[in-house]
Amino acid sequence: MAKKIGIAVIGCGRIGRVHAANLANLTGTTLTFVYDAMPQAAKKLGAELNAQVADSVEQIFADDATQAVIICSPTPTHIQLIKQAVLAGKKILCEKPLTRTLKESISCMDFVAKHKAILMVGFNRPYDPGVYALRQRVAKGEVGNIEHVQITSRDPAAPPMAYLKLAGGIFLDMMIHDFEMALRLLPDKPVALSAMASAITDKAIGKIGDHDNAVVTMHTAAGATCSIHNCRRAAYGYDQRVEVAGSKGMLQAQNLHEDNLISAGSKGFAQAPLQHFFLERYNQSYRTIVNTFVAAIGGNKKALEEVRTTNGVNAIYLAEQAAISAKSGKTVKLKLPYAD
Ligand SMILES: NC(=O)c1ccc[n+]([C@@H]2O[C@H](COP(=O)([O-])OP(=O)(O)OC[C@H]3O[C@@H](n4cnc5c(N)ncnc54)[C@H](O)[C@@H]3O)[C@@H](O)[C@H]2O)c1
Repeated sequence: MAKKIGIAVIGCGRIGRVHAANLANLTGTTLTFVYDAMPQAAKKLGAELNAQVADSVEQIFADDATQAVIICSPTPTHIQLIKQAVLAGKKILCEKPLTRTLKESISCMDFVAKHKAILMVGFNRPYDPGVYALRQRVAKGEVGNIEHVQITSRDPAAPPMAYLKLAGGIFLDMMIHDFEMALRLLPDKPVALSAMASAITDKAIGKIGDHDNAVVTMHTAAGATCSIHNCRRAAYGYDQRVEVAGSKGMLQAQNLHEDNLISAGSKGFAQAPLQHFFLERYNQSYRTIVNTFVAAIGGNKKALEEVRTTNGVNAIYLAEQAAISAKSGKTVKLKLPYAD
């Protein structure tokens, strides 16, 4: 039997708890440590999973049984932790977005390349079973020449204000997922972007200079278009849909419901509510992300192709350009930092 890969989790909040629980249960991995800057959070998770709690990140980086780390701490902490992990020879899966700015991300990419390290960014959408199937069928040409990509992402509710203050704004924190997806699905690179944004679901979000409702449109050199809508509130649950339309037809990855029953009566049709939020909807994706990361560490060619982070950095560029466009009210011309 192949030896299990030892992986530690840094940051034991919403997403760290998911990855740590998966590592403890996946066949190819062992959870070596959990660590959090707030010791109580790490102790609680360590007790739940019967995992060792590290006193510091240095303890993790010095541990020979830990080959890789998953960085699940707030976005501003990512760059420093990635660089420390690279120097310690660890493979890295880092939560999205890679860093708070494009400048930091490029510096991170250069550092990773210089040290020939493995770095994957934890985008969940591409590994959702419905979206994964859509990606493969689009790649096989099922919709013909792609004319339009439409992405809807609405959260049931905003995260806590403490999280939002560190998150970097709706384009970097939330729409980053959709930019990364659009870059995977569009037939060629986007060359122009236009954004509008407002704070209408919670005025407190506007007071910290952020938005909770945003729309972006883009077009590529060949003329394909893309539209993305994000909102931090959806009274009907977590709304996640991706649609690709082309010369031969259309493919749509739909929402997932709590169950797949449909009832019908004299008043019409009814369905169970949507799966509540990302923890439920992308449950399978988080396991696939870790399995892909582990396969890449093992040298699997397809997985190594998947973990390339250039798309994730181009998505940060698009997020920054969207913020500029929303502020100025003008369409911006695009030049992605990574061509491939
Ligand atoms: N891919 C996804 O689906 C997804 C979903 C949510 C969040 N995220 C990303 O994951 C990251 C964390 O988000 P979250 O929602 O779990 O946040 P969170 O606030 O719930 O948890 C963050 C945890 O990190 C800890 N922490 C703070 N500084 C630290 C440090 N220097 N070292 C170690 N731990 C530290 C905090 O005490 C907290 O427990 C963010 O970058 C966010 O964008 C990704």
